[in-house]
Amino acid sequence: MDVNEFREFAKATIDYIADYHENIRDKQVLPDISPGYIKDKVPSDPPKEGEHWGNLLKDVNDVILPGLTHWQSPNFYAYYPASYSFPSVVGDLLSTGLGCVGLNWITGPAITELEVVMMDWLGKMLDIPLAFLNCSEGPGGGIIKGTASEATLVCLLAAKDKTVRRVKTLRPDLCDSDIKGKLVAYSSDHSNSSIEKAGLIGSVPMRLLLSDDEGRLNPQFLKEAIEQDLKLGLFPCYVVATLGTTGTCSFDNLQEIGPICEEFNVWLHVDAAYAGAAFVCPEYRYLKNGLEYAESFNFNAHKFMLINFDCSILWVKNAFNLINAFTVERPYLKHEYDSAPEYMHWQIPLGRRFRALKLWFMIRTYGVEGIRKYIRKQTGLINYFSEILKKDSRFEVCCKNLALLCFRVRGDDNLTKMLLNKLYERKQIYVISYTYKKNTVIRFSINSNECSEADLHFAYTEISNQVDDILNKNFIVITKEVNFKIEFDKSMELENIH
Ligand SMILES: Cc1ncc(COP(=O)(O)O)c(C=O)c1O
Repeated sequence: MDVNEFREFAKATIDYIADYHENIRDKQVLPDISPGYIKDKVPSDPPKEGEHWGNLLKDVNDVILPGLTHWQSPNFYAYYPASYSFPSVVGDLLSTGLGCVGLNWITGPAITELEVVMMDWLGKMLDIPLAFLNCSEGPGGGIIKGTASEATLVCLLAAKDKTVRRVKTLRPDLCDSDIKGKLVAYSSDHSNSSIEKAGLIGSVPMRLLLSDDEGRLNPQFLKEAIEQDLKLGLFPCYVVATLGTTGTCSFDNLQEIGPICEEFNVWLHVDAAYAGAAFVCPEYRYLKNGLEYAESFNFNAHKFMLINFDCSILWVKNAFNLINAFTVERPYLKHEYDSAPEYMHWQIPLGRRFRALKLWFMIRTYGVEGIRKYIRKQTGLINYFSEILKKDSRFEVCCKNLALLCFRVRGDDNLTKMLLNKLYERKQIYVISYTYKKNTVIRFSINSNECSEADLHFAYTEISNQVDDILNKNFIVITKEVNFKIEFDKSMELENIH
């Protein structure tokens, strides 16, 4: 493909993307296909000769689109927002189009330098402690990772390294492997699956402590668990607190957890994958009180800040904890600018993409006020939906935080399970289930930028009609007072998501 063909192909593709967004409401949110569907539509062997690019866009229509779950559809209320904005898309396109890779600083000075500045812009926007910023006097700083999972793992590995070094000074009789075999980490049983996975990959047992009724890490249980483990001769090394849990968007209390970590010299990592973006609005900042105790703090700009996947922001108070853990030198990585920041020592991969471009484009085109407006619009919509549900005595709104709420059908738990199944089968709106205070709840998250009050009325009508159907078939009338039992086929039960 020459540069002229590239121009045509790329312009046609941009038009295709713009049309996709303009017509997103016409698309059924969940696809009507089953696993393996693409095998029948794509040849089993690669083409011998190259073909014209025009065939590709046609096949995207015929082969790919029927197999997409439309995250940008206003009817997608599952999981969390697949953050999206046009300036961010263009930033990503440019990053790919320029075709540069950042290994060390010299292979892409602008890649590193812009990232350093963007991390400080974001840190200031979220009003996080100065110690986390690259521009602070101290050793703190921020870096872009691919995902929150990666951030949690990297910090666990750094905490492991730091704890081994510390214990060795106190117990010179122990070697590295003795200490590593006795490390232990903690989080709550409502933390994201990626936290447990970090423990698995990093070979540090992750104790998932029973959370309180609201899904928050219980500080008393944390303290007791640490004390218990110390008595057993183990070395507590890492605690992950969550601001905005995946299931219900609960917030762990950092003001209580922080001093415990400080007392026992344990690294506190704060996972604010979804909720962190909301701190750009001053009215949500109280939720991060106590963040000054954290050694590391992570949020996904690709969840609730108009940045396309992937872009996960990690700040650490002391970058030397990463550098000490991950630095591997080679002659081919050396260059003459010794004092330049080297993100390759803060991460697992060597190469890195130019992700700061999409942040730069989005922040400049929206401005801080534009981002606040977006977050407030989404949280305003959830309040609107909550009011609609509250006016209907068949439903109970169980919890509501940021742009997420969980609700259930009053009465027997099976009613909510049946409703979930019907919604899932009909594919008009996409929601998922969770368990809250031992009840099945429907987790409803405002995700699409396009979502409007009219879309919420559509969602409510769909939910309401399906409940009507279930109740009529089972001869049930719901009142707030009456509790009843109904039969439910257990094999139809949906899995919890976290
Ligand atoms: C609280 C929380 N932490 C971590 C994650 C994992 O995010 P990622 O896909 O960026 O690894 C999620 C995703 O749902 C989340 O909600």
